[in-house]
Amino acid sequence: MNKPRSVLLLVITLLFIANHSWAQKRPGELSLKSAFSGKFEIGAALNLRQIYERDEQAAALINAQFNSITAENCMKAMYLQPKEGEFNFKDADRFVELGEKYGMQLIGHTLIWHSQAPDWFFIGKDGKEVTREILIERMRKHIQTVVSRYKGRIKGWDVVNEAILDNGDWRQSKFYQIIGEGFIELAFQFAHEADPDAELYYNDFSMSQKGKREGVVSMVRKLKDNGVRMNGIGMQGHLSLEYPSLADFEASILEFSSLGVKVMITELDISVLPMPGPSQGAEVSTNYQYDQVLNPYAEGLSAAVESKLANRYKDFFALFLKHHDKIDRVTLWGVTDADSWKNNWPVRGRTDYPLLFDRNYQAKPFVREIIEMAKE
Ligand code: XIL
Repeated sequence: MNKPRSVLLLVITLLFIANHSWAQKRPGELSLKSAFSGKFEIGAALNLRQIYERDEQAAALINAQFNSITAENCMKAMYLQPKEGEFNFKDADRFVELGEKYGMQLIGHTLIWHSQAPDWFFIGKDGKEVTREILIERMRKHIQTVVSRYKGRIKGWDVVNEAILDNGDWRQSKFYQIIGEGFIELAFQFAHEADPDAELYYNDFSMSQKGKREGVVSMVRKLKDNGVRMNGIGMQGHLSLEYPSLADFEASILEFSSLGVKVMITELDISVLPMPGPSQGAEVSTNYQYDQVLNPYAEGLSAAVESKLANRYKDFFALFLKHHDKIDRVTLWGVTDADSWKNNWPVRGRTDYPLLFDRNYQAKPFVREIIEMAKE
């Protein structure tokens, strides 16, 4: 080998080693999970690429930063039981194996929900709506099959998702219409029978709204009075730069915790994009037509909005830290901005910046400040 060529090879090898160790070390440099250790768990929702570790950079990041994981979609009823009696556990099994491999806390999301439930669930063999008895039986079978499969492995389940409206009334879901409000107690009971040690949660969005807060409080009180095992309330936390106020969010943390249950922030993201409709919630069936004016940061965030986002995140983490004795876990709904569902909801094809890590897998500058806050 001639001299210039071997020098070139040496330089390339050194660059490769430097780059490789940089990539390996980099995610561990700032560590959310060690910063919040002793305060609350810090989690992320994982998509299939992450569950199957096809996204290597994400895998390194998840491992270095988070100690709790939730499946973003693959444990929802339409994926687990697409046809009656035909369960498909492939992706969910993989999710559970991944969590166990890295010693992470596993959260099951979600057993009973009006969205992403398969259509067959509510239709009888005669093509008409099912009777109350059949729906209860289908709920029982779904919950017991799923929960018992992962018995002792899943720390806690979002047993029921989004049963109360923002004004505190019951959502007119098929579960409610066909079974009545008792569906919620039955769901918790079935889950408890299948895994007596699993924690059981109620999860919902817009939990800082007064009406919803009161509705959830009275529903949970009733469950507790009836002796139902119910361990926690999940406040989803799909937030924006203006909504909701910190004071309203704090009021709900305090009220929920006074019921004697754990409070969890289960699906945190902060959107910088305009919300086209009147609702600030996270009803996944709401969709609006794309319009360029609704997508103002396709080429990048302005410094002003970036700083608003940073302040908003710092304010919320300061609140979580203040109430760390009541908050068990904070889960981000995604890992990097590129993965976030907010890029496609409630308008498809926008560019949002709702998470702690950017599209290049880098922690946003304010993450360091949040970590500093946690150390204080
Ligand atoms: C979202 C997922 O992120 C999307 O990928 C999917 O298309 C729709 O559901 N509330 C919940 C979550 O409880 O399960 C939802 O997740 C977001 C709103």
